[in-house]
Amino acid sequence: MSPFRRQRPPVCLGPVENFPDSIPKRVSTSPPIAALRHGDTIHVFEDRCPHAGAILSRGTLTGEHLTCPAHKATFDVATGRSVGTLNCRKLRTYKAWLQNGLIYITPTPTHKPH
Ligand code: FES
Repeated sequence: MSPFRRQRPPVCLGPVENFPDSIPKRVSTSPPIAALRHGDTIHVFEDRCPHAGAILSRGTLTGEHLTCPAHKATFDVATGRSVGTLNCRKLRTYKAWLQNGLIYITPTPTHKPH
């Protein structure tokens, strides 16, 4: 592998005020991802349930646990882990941070499914 291999730059999701506190919001459809902001903490995760593909950002949020609207699989959006009784694979998650009022994420997931 070349030591000069280029790294892909972070991806900007937009101004933090576009992300209301504690409300999951879809930000991209290709691949489908969603962001959830709790104050200055931001979680970004795939917005497609690994069970059967429902849109997770339309689910029910309890703290950092998001329950799928279709068959009620539940995920910890901070880790991507399935935490409910319906055991699914882990969600892809992205490292996210705030910089100058904008939200950025890594261009590739930090947690990939096993
Ligand atoms: S599609 Fe999410 S639990 Fe079935």
